[in-house]
Amino acid sequence: MPAFGLGTWRMGEHPDQFQHEADVIRAALDMGVTLLDTAEMYGEGGAEEVIGEAIRGRRDGLFLVSKFYPHNASRNGVIEACERSLRRMDCDSIDLYLLHWPGSVPLSQTFEALHELQAQGKIRDFGVSNFNLADLEKIPETDQAILGCNQVFYNLAHREVEWEVSAWCRERGIPVMAYSPLDQASSLLHSDAIAEVAAKHAASPAQIALAWLLHQPDTVVIPKSSRAARIQENLDAVAIELSQEDLSTLDNAFPAPNQPVRLGMR
Ligand SMILES: NC(=O)c1ccc[n+]([C@@H]2O[C@H](COP(=O)([O-])OP(=O)(O)OC[C@H]3O[C@@H](n4cnc5c(N)ncnc54)[C@H](OP(=O)(O)O)[C@@H]3O)[C@@H](O)[C@H]2O)c1
Repeated sequence: MPAFGLGTWRMGEHPDQFQHEADVIRAALDMGVTLLDTAEMYGEGGAEEVIGEAIRGRRDGLFLVSKFYPHNASRNGVIEACERSLRRMDCDSIDLYLLHWPGSVPLSQTFEALHELQAQGKIRDFGVSNFNLADLEKIPETDQAILGCNQVFYNLAHREVEWEVSAWCRERGIPVMAYSPLDQASSLLHSDAIAEVAAKHAASPAQIALAWLLHQPDTVVIPKSSRAARIQENLDAVAIELSQEDLSTLDNAFPAPNQPVRLGMR
C-alpha cells in the first residue's frame, strides 16, 4: 500500500464543483499520487462519482480505498453497497474496502460478505475504520490477522490511537491509516514547535505534520485538498527526513498519551 494518499471527504457535494474536483484528482495522479481514499458517505456517493470521472482510462496502478456505512454491514448490505460503489467509480474492483465505523450488525456477517466480495474479485483486501481495541477484539479471530488497515483519526494533536490500538495493529502487521492528518487545518498548523522544525527543513507546517506521521511505524497518510498546489506540497512531505532532535521537539510539544484515552473520531 502506498504511504501517501489523497482524501476526498467534502468532495462530490456540489455539482458545480464536480469538474474542478475531478481535474484536481487527475492533477494529483499526474504528480504521482496513487492512493485515493473515499467512502459511500462522502457526498452520498458524489465523491465516488468524482473519482470515477477522474480515473477514467487510468485505473491501472491506482490503489482505491472506499468504505461502507455500518448500517450496510449486513451480509447482503455489504455486497450491494460494494456494487453501488463500483458502479459510481466505474471500475471492477476496490483495493481496500473498509467498514467506516463500528455498528450493531454482527461482524461475522460483515466479514462473510467481505470474503465473498474478495472471492469474486470485487475487492482485493478489506479492513476497518475507527475501531478501538475492544472493537478490534470482536473481529473474528482469523480475520484479525489479515486486516488491510485500521483507518483512524491520527495527527500530532490527536495521538489517542497510540494508547493500545497502534501496538495491537503493529503486532499483527496491520497498517494504521491516519485520517485528518492535518487535523483539518486546525490551529495545529500554527504551532510554534512545528514552525521551528519547519524552518530547519525549509518546509511548511503541513509538511512537518505529515512527515511526523510518516515517521511512525506502518503509518499511511491521506490528507485532503481541493487545490493542486497543496497536494504537491503535501506529497513532497514524503521526502522529508526528520532528525531525532526534530522528533523530540514535536514529541515534547505534542506528547503521546500516558493513560487510557478514548480513540478520537471526526
Ligand atoms: N474514516 C473516517 O471516519 C474518516 C474521517 C475523516 C476523514 N477521513 C478521510 O481522511 C481524509 C483527510 O482528512 P480530512 O479531510 O478530515 O482532514 P485533513 O486532511 O487533515 O485536512 C483537510 C483540510 O486541510 C486543508 N489543507 C490541505 N492541505 C493543506 C496544506 N498543505 N496547508 C494548509 N491547509 C491544507 C484543506 O483545505 P483545501 O481543500 O482548501 O486545501 C482541508 O480544509 C478525508 O478527506 C477522508 O478521505 C476519514
